[in-house]
Amino acid sequence: MSDYNNNYSRRRFLTQSSLGLLAVAGMPGLLNAMEGMSAMPKMTPNKANPNFKPDVELELFCKSSSIPILVGNPTKVLQYTARLLQGPKETLVELPGSYLGPIIRLQKGQKVRIHLHNGLPEATVTHWHGLHVPANMDGHPMYAIDPGQVLVYEFEVLNRAGMNIYHPHPHETTATQVYHGLAGAILINDEEQAALELPAGAYEIPVVIQDRLFDTENQLIYSRGMHDRMTGFYGDRILVNGLADFAVDVESRAYRLRVLNGSNARIYKLAWDDGTPLTVIGVDGGLLEKPETKPYVMLAPGERLDVWADFSGRNEGSQLVMRSLSFSGVLPKMGRMMHTGSLPVGSDFPIFTARVTKKVSDSPKLPSTLSKINWHKLTDTANPNNPRPIGISEGHMAIVLNGRPYAYNDAQDIERIPVNTIQLMEIFHAHGGGHNNQAAQPNNGDKGGEHSGMGGMGMGMRHGGMGGGMGMGGGGMGGMGMMMSMAHPIHLHGQQFQIVSRSIDAGKTEDYATVREGFIESGLKDTVLVMPGESVRIIKPFQDFKGLFMFHCHNLEHEDMGMMRDFSVE
Ligand code: C2O
Ligand code: CU
Ligand code: CU
Repeated sequence: MSDYNNNYSRRRFLTQSSLGLLAVAGMPGLLNAMEGMSAMPKMTPNKANPNFKPDVELELFCKSSSIPILVGNPTKVLQYTARLLQGPKETLVELPGSYLGPIIRLQKGQKVRIHLHNGLPEATVTHWHGLHVPANMDGHPMYAIDPGQVLVYEFEVLNRAGMNIYHPHPHETTATQVYHGLAGAILINDEEQAALELPAGAYEIPVVIQDRLFDTENQLIYSRGMHDRMTGFYGDRILVNGLADFAVDVESRAYRLRVLNGSNARIYKLAWDDGTPLTVIGVDGGLLEKPETKPYVMLAPGERLDVWADFSGRNEGSQLVMRSLSFSGVLPKMGRMMHTGSLPVGSDFPIFTARVTKKVSDSPKLPSTLSKINWHKLTDTANPNNPRPIGISEGHMAIVLNGRPYAYNDAQDIERIPVNTIQLMEIFHAHGGGHNNQAAQPNNGDKGGEHSGMGGMGMGMRHGGMGGGMGMGGGGMGGMGMMMSMAHPIHLHGQQFQIVSRSIDAGKTEDYATVREGFIESGLKDTVLVMPGESVRIIKPFQDFKGLFMFHCHNLEHEDMGMMRDFSVE
């Protein structure tokens, strides 16, 4: 082949790869697998059901807007705004000066109707991250509405108390819509939590952490270049509740911080700057049974943290800074090198400051018991000896789950789940894309060998080999090395799950040591950070509702690139 041809085909390959899907479609063995997939259907937007009697009814608007964030020009953003039509007036709580949508406060048991108005110039749909709702109310991309359309959601709040999220979920444009501002928090309360009389009102502070990149005119920069898609998109400005340099004045007493990582890709290692341990009272799925203290907590995109922050005994004029401490290993070495931002992933930086401005003598006490969690036992699962795989394939210029990029109506056997069952699942790094289909079958008998087939593959690739069917015509471009292994926050829609165990490859322990104290397994989760070389076993119920429930990486660039699948609950 002449040089000209060589370059030409390489360039063409790169162009095609940037479509993500094509890169994987080019893998031998995947062509057949992908024949069954079909395009995202377009549904007629759901209308209000006259027989549904809502306790809370609100209109939620998505629109472009402009808001001052930095000194100087205001920033163009996309924003959720809301209007309460009926229900308790404390249902909607605005965050002053923020592009974030209002906090939606709900009670367990309430019936909720939401009219979503699409005022964007493109399709959107809203997902209630963490809520257990019917499949057709979950904001699956198939329900996306066009500009000017209205989509009606109706559901009952089945969740226990906890912090959840609402954010867009349209096909392949979730990351950009969230990045430009579309997101908000849902705080659910229930009797169990109310009885604790935790700090509330001015003593309960939402802390939504995001990173953004601004140009010199204060406008948001977002890129969908190949590199940004592979590593995720990072900003160099930390915003809390949509505000830069966030600081909050506190009294010398206990507060409750409702922390949410609303970043597209950035993972934080949260800690107090003076070494005070973090007192954690809850995670994604609500309160823990009892408080836990941690030197630091890892918080990946989509994860939540409920923190008891006690400023008692601190002097007026003193301050406490929440920082992200340094850690390593979440990006591959090459990705780290290529990461050009001035706030490198895993570096040490401040997030916000709490300034003690008032000395008070009284403070609520931290309850020693917080809640009762209904833990499922291994024997409650349908498959105690045979976990369902969620294999992370970090292939050449594409990262997928269970060997295949997202496609509508493409459930493999391992992704079909009988309704009203509880499933043992294992999330692990499968490496490479092409061989997962066979290897990911749960029934290959040898214990712990669900991914033995991929193990072999992984080894070869770890040593830089691109042998066999994995060549894909792009040999020597370094992409494989770049994508060898990174951390992925894996999110499952529907009911919260419990974490059974984590295990780490012997070769990865050095980086892992910088994060391992930061995981919390004593609460219910819907998103779990899976580090390179790590396998995580979870127990997850699939109760009440049939239909498609997504699972995906909550690094939103990964999600949009196709690192997402549906479970078909049937
Ligand atoms: Cu927060 Cu499917 O997402
Ligand atoms: Cu979700
Ligand atoms: Cu990912």
